[in-house]
Amino acid sequence: MRCYTYLKENNADSLTLQERETPRPGPGQVLVRMKAASLNYRDLIIVWGRYPGMKSEGLIPASDGAGVVAEVGPGVKRFASGDRVTGCFFETWLGGAMTPKHFDNALGGSVPGVLAEYRAYPEEALVATPAHLSDEEAATLPCAALTAWNALYEGRQLLPGETVLVLGTGGVSMFALQFAKASGATVIATSSSDAKLAKAKALGADHLINYKTHPDWEQSVREVTGGRGVDHVVEVGGAGTLQRSISAARHGGAVHLIGVLTGGQIDPTAILFNTTLLRGVFVGSRDMFESMNRLISARQIKPVIDRVFPFAEARAALAHLEGASHFGKVVISID
Ligand SMILES: NC(=O)c1ccc[n+]([C@@H]2O[C@H](COP(=O)([O-])OP(=O)(O)OC[C@H]3O[C@@H](n4cnc5c(N)ncnc54)[C@H](OP(=O)(O)O)[C@@H]3O)[C@@H](O)[C@H]2O)c1
Repeated sequence: MRCYTYLKENNADSLTLQERETPRPGPGQVLVRMKAASLNYRDLIIVWGRYPGMKSEGLIPASDGAGVVAEVGPGVKRFASGDRVTGCFFETWLGGAMTPKHFDNALGGSVPGVLAEYRAYPEEALVATPAHLSDEEAATLPCAALTAWNALYEGRQLLPGETVLVLGTGGVSMFALQFAKASGATVIATSSSDAKLAKAKALGADHLINYKTHPDWEQSVREVTGGRGVDHVVEVGGAGTLQRSISAARHGGAVHLIGVLTGGQIDPTAILFNTTLLRGVFVGSRDMFESMNRLISARQIKPVIDRVFPFAEARAALAHLEGASHFGKVVISID
């Protein structure tokens, strides 16, 4: 099979197409003919050498992919040849709480990823692809969509009529916007770009704030909410935005800690004065994935794809993500 790997450590330009032996499905395994992969900011920080415990040299990158079952190994019951499937981010986190064992089984990081024509998955680490989605669309779900789902529904659950703040217009944030609107919430979206804000409005965002022209954007959020603050912040910015996110949340509101896009410092007193619920979110389990797909199917939600690159242009796809001009997800077709 053909697959991509990095020939050098911390060097995105060394991403190279190689021939490797096609894996055989062992007992309980499913061989998937991968049809599409999507990229995440995580793929950048791994190759930049900034992801704790991960090395890029020799790695098949990218955690998120979808395709068709080519062959099943002995004892497989969940899937059969020809089924359309999407892979989980963690091979072992099926349900319950996150544990360190699952961190050691994260695709495109601690175990091989999906930028390959074939991948053998444990049958438990696959979910059925929603029928209304293409493989390119399904490939966007395992990390970005599931993280947004986990933030909004698996901790302090989003209620209809609540207000959600999403930061920027990347993959996680645009899924959070779509899920929140599907749940009857009001959404405030921020972006560095008015053109992207117009696209967020078309997706259903109720209030728009440009965080470049409004650097004190948390005050704009307070104004929009009549001084109360939002019920949920989908916090993808990290240390550089967290202080403002805490101020943008209502007393007792939830800040879902997801991202590491920016650096900065935090004064923890604001967390206790505002009685903020600060919750770390780390993608999600297979059970959460199946719950999310029920909403995606019921409401016929279509992931927002910025651009699909051909398999031969994987390096350009990674550079496009790094350029941050995208809105939603960057996808690679593996046909
Ligand atoms: N914890 C987890 O399980 C988990 C899962 C997925 C992702 N993440 C993390 O979440 C973050 C986002 O991931 P992603 O894949 O959605 O990234 P992405 O698609 O690359 O989106 C990045 C976007 O973030 C926005 N942004 C950058 N700096 C910002 C700032 N200072 N304030 C507000 N928005 C800003 C920009 O939007 P505009 O261009 O509109 O300004 C940018 O396009 C990353 O740090 C990633 O590592 C964590």
